[in-house]
Amino acid sequence: MSLKDKIDMQRLPSHIAIIMDGNGRWANEKGEDRLFGHLHGVESVRNVVEGAAELGIKYMTLYAFSTENWDRPEYEVTGLMALLVDTIHKEVPTLNKNNIRLHVIGDVSMLPDEARAELNQALLETSGNTGLNLIMALSYSSRWELETAIRQIASDVKSGALDPGSINQDLIRTYLATKDFPDPELMIRTSGEHRISNFLLYQLAYSELYFTNTLWPDFRKENLYEAILDYQGRERRFGKTGQQIKNEEAAG
Ligand code: IPE
Ligand code: IPE
Ligand code: MG
Repeated sequence: MSLKDKIDMQRLPSHIAIIMDGNGRWANEKGEDRLFGHLHGVESVRNVVEGAAELGIKYMTLYAFSTENWDRPEYEVTGLMALLVDTIHKEVPTLNKNNIRLHVIGDVSMLPDEARAELNQALLETSGNTGLNLIMALSYSSRWELETAIRQIASDVKSGALDPGSINQDLIRTYLATKDFPDPELMIRTSGEHRISNFLLYQLAYSELYFTNTLWPDFRKENLYEAILDYQGRERRFGKTGQQIKNEEAAG
């Protein structure tokens, strides 16, 4: 029985988020430049997105570039941006063929004009697709997202559009970059690092976290299946007791 066949299709996570980490170390191990690692990381993105679409996953968020990553050496930032633009441009026909809709979360005002234009074009050209929602976190950080949301909430209160008494968790969601997507049930980080690195801090409140030593350029569909199987073996309690969860399951 293959790994894929072991997956319970009735209990798939609807949203999987991934911190794609380890490109630089993968390249260093091979005596290559870090950009070589990023280039190979694109192949992993293709493979994993295809795997998710085949399974029928509804949402996949990929952390591609953080607001902190702008502080990397200029040549790496420039190289990464060029790779992103080129990849997004080339992948649009495949996204359309596979009915995948592209979304972006992040401070895109920081992106070079050309990158932003390519991105907007890709968003538009895939906007009619109804299969997998592929959300690229680009120039994203959770603290940037919260800062932006809080500024907007304050502004709406000041203008009289929003009553402070009506601010609750449901309303806060509508101000987040992820307002159109459910919270991830599963968050994967590659490369053996056990941290969140400013990714979806609010949305990961009850996500199952899965860490693997596999470096991102080596990550393939099979690794995704392993993570999903691990997720399916867990009991999600949301603050309740294990016994309550069992009773609820028995009651259907
Ligand atoms: C992840 O790989 C890709 C980005 C952050 C853009 P890294 O570039 O962080 O690779 P390591 O962590 O240095 O190995
Ligand atoms: C997190 O990886 C950001 C992305 C994968 C895009 P980093 O490599 O930037 O994270 P740290 O610096 O190791 O925490
Ligand atoms: Mg890293």
